[in-house]
Amino acid sequence: MRDARQRDASGSLPDGSPLTPPVREAHEITRLREALICKLTRQSTLTDARIADALRAVPRHSFVPEASLQRSYEDSVVPVKHVGDELVSTLSQPSAIVVMLEQLQVQDGMRVLEIGTGTGYNAALLAALAGPKGKVTTVDIDEDLSRHAEIVLDRLGCSTVHVQTGDGFLGVPEHAPYDRIELSVATPAISPAWTSQLVDGGLFVGPIRVKGMQFLTPAFRKNGAQLVSESIHACHFVPMRGSRTANISTYRLPVQPNLRFVWESPDEFPAGLLTRILRQERKVLDEVPVSWPAAAYILLTNEAAFYTESTDGRVHGIAILDRDSESLASVISSSDGWGAAAIVMYGGEGARRRLAHSIDAWARNGRPGIDALRLTAVPSPGPEKLGPRAQLIRQPYYDLIASYEI
Ligand SMILES: C[S@@+](CC[C@H](N)C(=O)[O-])C[C@H]1O[C@@H](n2cnc3c(N)ncnc32)[C@H](O)[C@@H]1O
Repeated sequence: MRDARQRDASGSLPDGSPLTPPVREAHEITRLREALICKLTRQSTLTDARIADALRAVPRHSFVPEASLQRSYEDSVVPVKHVGDELVSTLSQPSAIVVMLEQLQVQDGMRVLEIGTGTGYNAALLAALAGPKGKVTTVDIDEDLSRHAEIVLDRLGCSTVHVQTGDGFLGVPEHAPYDRIELSVATPAISPAWTSQLVDGGLFVGPIRVKGMQFLTPAFRKNGAQLVSESIHACHFVPMRGSRTANISTYRLPVQPNLRFVWESPDEFPAGLLTRILRQERKVLDEVPVSWPAAAYILLTNEAAFYTESTDGRVHGIAILDRDSESLASVISSSDGWGAAAIVMYGGEGARRRLAHSIDAWARNGRPGIDALRLTAVPSPGPEKLGPRAQLIRQPYYDLIASYEI
């Protein structure tokens, strides 16, 4: 890759700005980039010296020429493209990029697939990590984005990156197999194309929705037909688009038209029972301090728990259903997120008791975070019987087995 700090009068980026900045600007870029690397290192997000070198080698500002230098090197997301009011593409936050690159463990000479090219910045980092003998394939569903990324990558001399337009849910079979697959966009399900295009022993890293909980980002190691998580973080990404991923596993009921229910249980969605329960009186009981890891624990350790969200996406809930007493108890986030959440219930006491038991169990078990969560993806339908404390989560192609190491 060409070093953007070297003088090269011939080059310019798609917006016409020169490839190599004037000397004073180059000093400013180095200062901002080193400050970012220092911050990520101090907070222990960045531990791998090879990734630090890649951050130094790839000029982030060149991928978002319309953003100021300051903005390009802040630890924040840079919006890239809207469709109507919806933000559909961003240059991801550096800390999220680094967390995922650390999980991905790209080595010299590897073949890497990235889904969600966006600006092309992460593809350039992957190319730096895979070295001159490596090969990076990156795909975006929007042709304007992939074309723009291709031009920038080409001008920066990233000759080992191949950019493609298409639905990344299908992977890119032409260049398979891959040693590493990274998803730079949030998916509601694991695609069979990704697992078939990944070598055995290879790593897949990406934000997946689990029982409605967004942005759990596991590093899965492929082991035969299964994917086994080695680490799990949480990274926020824009949702994947494309017909195959629309509205997987969400339900609406006329009794609560402004609510979406996410149902990934082995049992059928109990539309009749929930309608009966939700017609009963709504009682708001308490405000409880529930952190995001606690909400995840309640959801992922209870088969009777499921996720709800308001249709405007602002308010989220974890609901526990008690079929025997025909009752429902939910922890509902405020529009600012978890923290001061309210307990809302319908029907008898059964569901509330289950919820209280689960919150107690989380505290008793040392308040585990999602780093204590283990996920195994198995081709669906997964096994009927599981060990104690493990839960089967039904998804369209792969079922997930969730358990906590406590
Ligand atoms: C967060 S951005 C990716 C940021 C990017 N890695 C970068 O370095 O700038 C997510 C991207 O995924 C793309 N995307 C959404 N659905 C997709 C799909 N089904 N297949 C491929 N790309 C998709 C979006 O167009 C968007 O550009």
